[in-house]
Amino acid sequence: MSNTRKFRVAVIGLGWWGQTIVKYLKSARNIDAVLATDLNQDAGQAFAQSQGVEFAPSFEAAITDPRVEGVVLCTPHSMHADQMVMVAAAGKHIFCEKPLCLNRADVLRAMKAINERKLTLAVGHERRFEPPVMKAMEMIHSGVIGKPLQMEANFSQDKFLQMASDNWRLNAAEAPAGPMTATGIHLLDLSVGVFGPAETVFASVKQLGSPLVNGDTLAILATYKRGGHALISAILATPFAGRFAVFGSKGWVEVRDKTHPEASTGWTMNWHIRGEEVQTASYEPHPAVLSNLEAFADAAMGGGVPYPVPQEQMLANICALEAVVKSTRSGKVETVEN
Ligand SMILES: NC(=O)c1ccc[n+]([C@@H]2O[C@H](COP(=O)([O-])OP(=O)(O)OC[C@H]3O[C@@H](n4cnc5c(N)ncnc54)[C@H](O)[C@@H]3O)[C@@H](O)[C@H]2O)c1
Repeated sequence: MSNTRKFRVAVIGLGWWGQTIVKYLKSARNIDAVLATDLNQDAGQAFAQSQGVEFAPSFEAAITDPRVEGVVLCTPHSMHADQMVMVAAAGKHIFCEKPLCLNRADVLRAMKAINERKLTLAVGHERRFEPPVMKAMEMIHSGVIGKPLQMEANFSQDKFLQMASDNWRLNAAEAPAGPMTATGIHLLDLSVGVFGPAETVFASVKQLGSPLVNGDTLAILATYKRGGHALISAILATPFAGRFAVFGSKGWVEVRDKTHPEASTGWTMNWHIRGEEVQTASYEPHPAVLSNLEAFADAAMGGGVPYPVPQEQMLANICALEAVVKSTRSGKVETVEN
C-alpha cells in the first residue's frame, strides 16, 4: 500500500547526477527534496535556488536537520561508505548512488550501521526499474526462458571523452577498472539480479581508443554460484550502445536501449521461445531514476512495501566489483569473496 504524503529528503552533492535527481524529484509522487547541499557553496546554492530548494550550509547540517527523513547521496564513490555511516548515525534512511561502495568491507560496515538503526537502504541502479528490464526479469524468474544459462550485456558511450583529465571519474582510485564504476556496475548489478552472487571473475581493461589513461575498454567474464555466465562489456570510446540479453534453456530475451538513458527514446525488446516465432516489442521512455527514488520512499515510509533490491544483492554486486578490479590488476581469474 503506498502512502499519500511526501517523504522528505536532503540531496547531497549537486554535480551532474545530484542536479539530475533534484530535477526528477520535482515530479515525484511521494518524495520531495526539502534540502540540498554541496561542498561548492556558490554553485550549489545557485542551483538549489534555481530549483526552489533550500540550500543547507554543510553535509552535517543537511543530515541532522529535523525535517529530513532520508538522504540521497550523489557524491564521489570513495565517500559513500563513510557518509552512509554518518547518515545512519543521524537516524536517516539512505538512497546512495552507485557503486554503493568500492569494496566488501565498506558495504558491510555501512549495512551494519544502517541495519542496527532499522533504516532503509536503496541504491541508484535504475536499470532495474526500466519496464522492459522488469519484464525480462519476470520472464527469467518465472521460468519462461527456462534455466538461465548466460547473460550478455553492453553499456558503451563516449560522454567521458569531453571530460577534463583531472576529473575524479577518470581517476584509478575513485573509478577503478576504467568504465566499471560508471557503467559496468549497472550490468554487474543486473547479472546478480539474474544469477545471484558471482563465484569467479576474469576482467581485462585496456586503453585502446581514446586518451583515457584509466582505460576505455572493459571486458568481464563472470561465473555464478548457482550456475550461469555473464559476459559484460563496457566501453568509453565508442558511441552509445546499451543491451541486456539473457539466454535460457527454453528461450532468450534481449532489451536494447534506443538511445542513451539520459535522453531515452525507449527500448526494443526481442524474445524467442523454442517452437515460437521471434517476437519484438517497443517500449516508450520511462523515468526509471524517478521510479527508483519513489520505491525508496515507499519502503522508507513503511506500509509494507519493501525496497525491491534486497541488500544481499547489493552486497553481492560490490563483492563482484572488488573481484573485477582485482582481476584487471592481476590478469588472473579471481574468486569472489561473498
Ligand atoms: N545512477 C546513475 O545512472 C548515475 C549517473 C551518473 C552518476 N551517478 C553517480 O552519482 C555520484 C556522483 O556523480 P557525479 O557524476 O554527479 O559527480 P560530480 O563530481 O558531478 O558531483 C559530485 C558532487 O558532490 C559534491 N560533494 C563531494 N563531497 C561532498 C560533501 N561532503 N558534501 C556535499 N557535497 C559534496 C562535489 O562538490 C560535487 O559537486 C557517483 O556515485 C556516480 O557514480 C549515477
